Amino acid sequence: MSQTQRQLRLGAIIQGASGNMSAWRHPDAVADASINVDYVLDLARKAEQAKIDFLFVADGLYITPQSIPHFLNRFEPVTLLSALSLVTKNIGLVATLSTSYSEPFTVARQFASLDHLSGGRVGWNVVTSPLEGSAKNFSRASHPEHDERYRVASEYLEVAKGLWDSWEADAFVRDKASGQFFDADKLHTLNHKGKYFSVQGPLNVGRSPQGRPVVFQAGASEAGKAFAVEAADAIYTRQETPALAREFREDVRRQLVARGRRADDIRVFQGISVIIGSSEADAERRYQQTAELVTLDKALEYLGRYFEHHDFSQYDADAPFPAIGDLGENSFRSTTDAIKRNARERGLTLRQVALEEATPRPTFLGTAQQVADGLAAWFLSGAADGFVVRGGTPTAFDDFVEQVIPLLQARGIYRQQYEGATLRENLGLAEPENQFASRRQQVA
Ligand SMILES: Cc1cc2nc3c(=O)[nH]c(=O)nc-3n(C[C@H](O)[C@H](O)[C@H](O)COP(=O)(O)O)c2cc1C
Repeated sequence: MSQTQRQLRLGAIIQGASGNMSAWRHPDAVADASINVDYVLDLARKAEQAKIDFLFVADGLYITPQSIPHFLNRFEPVTLLSALSLVTKNIGLVATLSTSYSEPFTVARQFASLDHLSGGRVGWNVVTSPLEGSAKNFSRASHPEHDERYRVASEYLEVAKGLWDSWEADAFVRDKASGQFFDADKLHTLNHKGKYFSVQGPLNVGRSPQGRPVVFQAGASEAGKAFAVEAADAIYTRQETPALAREFREDVRRQLVARGRRADDIRVFQGISVIIGSSEADAERRYQQTAELVTLDKALEYLGRYFEHHDFSQYDADAPFPAIGDLGENSFRSTTDAIKRNARERGLTLRQVALEEATPRPTFLGTAQQVADGLAAWFLSGAADGFVVRGGTPTAFDDFVEQVIPLLQARGIYRQQYEGATLRENLGLAEPENQFASRRQQVA
């Protein structure tokens, strides 16, 4: 095995009983998985044994009775990862938290704290919240507009990073003899005053073992991509084909260089689902068994959520996908644009669109060997630095860990042991400089 072979990275999604929105009804499913701590602990242990880079917890801030069942009753991500930080040793822990409905001081503090608890294994998936209804839960008159949300996020990250640089790594000397607790030269007060935030600092948590949490960004619009290029260490995205994924990753790398960062400063993860069978036909059977659990009513509700909970049951399901104008522009923009384009280009009916969305065919479906070959092909062609894996049935993640990862290891593109102690080290990301320390050293 070549030591210099670029290594594939993997994340595992924690999100209810794996599979589609109705997977909780599957005979093999743990029906209360989204709020069952034993289920999550078991998944975390399996992922860590398989040397998976990180666990990834998605999130949302608004539900209605029509929401996906496992969104109705689920753990808040930071709370969940606090618990996991103490019962895991090596695996990274990535939590989703929205910059549109939170304060940078609180969030910088939570993630810094979690990074200390976990010994430097934390990542923050920065999202801007797609759902319009979120405003109603946060005393706001309206949901901020799509590109405005990214402008807020940009300043928010500037503040968070400034707060994470409040203390240099060796600021706390705690000299009992002299009584000196910290070195005042190594304390930096942010004094940020911007368009959206006014934050004095310093943060009341010291520098964390990996410098600062790894910043993920999820969102694929141009505004989202530009924000990632400016502020993120990793992107979680979803493209349909290896060609589109390669184009996306190359564009990110080009934009990084144009901004004065290195092309390798961001890891691009493709979100994928997998179903593994003893044969291709067996994998197909497993997919059909899960897909059949989703009724048309449920599929229409699922589709509606992307479009501000639009009621699609009012249309004839067998007529062409209805003209709904700009609906969705201000929520899941990149996803809704893709749904409308796909319906138009392929001339699909509403029923077809709803069922395709609610019961998507996994990106990788087949035998373990076929899935491993597919992942390797995407990876080696430059379509991704890694994958965030979701099981397409309640048992598919176990199959992936037991059958596919050993094949990737045998090919020399996946680790046998964790390389480092922190998430940054395992992802091969450099530890960030403390902006104030660098300036102080330059002056000195
Ligand atoms: C792969 C992917 C995963 C996402 N995960 C979440 C999530 O867990 N929680 C959330 O509030 N938004 C999530 N989003 C939505 C983004 O935060 C964003 O609000 C929305 O997609 C609109 O941005 P975009 O047009 O740049 O994609 C995700 C988006 C993508 C593409």
